[in-house]
Amino acid sequence: MIHQLVYYSRNTVPGGDRAMLTNMREILSISQRNNSRDGITGFLIFDKTWFIQILEGERAKVLETYNRIARDTRHSTAMIMNERDTPTRLFPNWTMGGAMRTPEVQEIYLQHGFGGPLDPVRLKSEQIVSLALDLQGFEVSRRSEQKLAS
Ligand SMILES: Cc1cc2nc3c(=O)[nH]c(=O)nc-3n(C[C@H](O)[C@H](O)[C@H](O)COP(=O)(O)O)c2cc1C
Repeated sequence: MIHQLVYYSRNTVPGGDRAMLTNMREILSISQRNNSRDGITGFLIFDKTWFIQILEGERAKVLETYNRIARDTRHSTAMIMNERDTPTRLFPNWTMGGAMRTPEVQEIYLQHGFGGPLDPVRLKSEQIVSLALDLQGFEVSRRSEQKLAS
């Protein structure tokens, strides 16, 4: 069984989009290194105030990773939205994918009914998982287009 954990937290790093992009890149690159070692996959969404992350893998590794993440001072008050066992991974090819909310992906947010900022307090983890799957799909198609263009 694969353990899946979804949590949200509040960003504490000041600055605008550019600072946040740098921050996201750092977080994702450390995550990719650690998660490939630990057999963790998932997706990280960032929408101005909030991080929302899906972690999946062996239960002990997921909890160990979550506990480490929760102590990180780049965010605060991490709250677990859902934890469950599932037969398969939803993000098998992503040690940690991630997407900032940019105008480019606004259409995807709209398709999921999110015109305004996300309010994770009111969201169900299934809504997040389904949004993350579409954001992942968008990233995949964008990367293959970049390959074709180069
Ligand atoms: C929102 C957020 C998500 C993170 N996600 C992960 C993750 O998926 N995996 C991971 O190893 N670290 C993640 N980190 C970083 C950890 O908090 C921590 O800095 C890192 O794991 C330490 O790695 P090190 O001991 O190898 O330096 C995340 C941090 C933040 C703020």
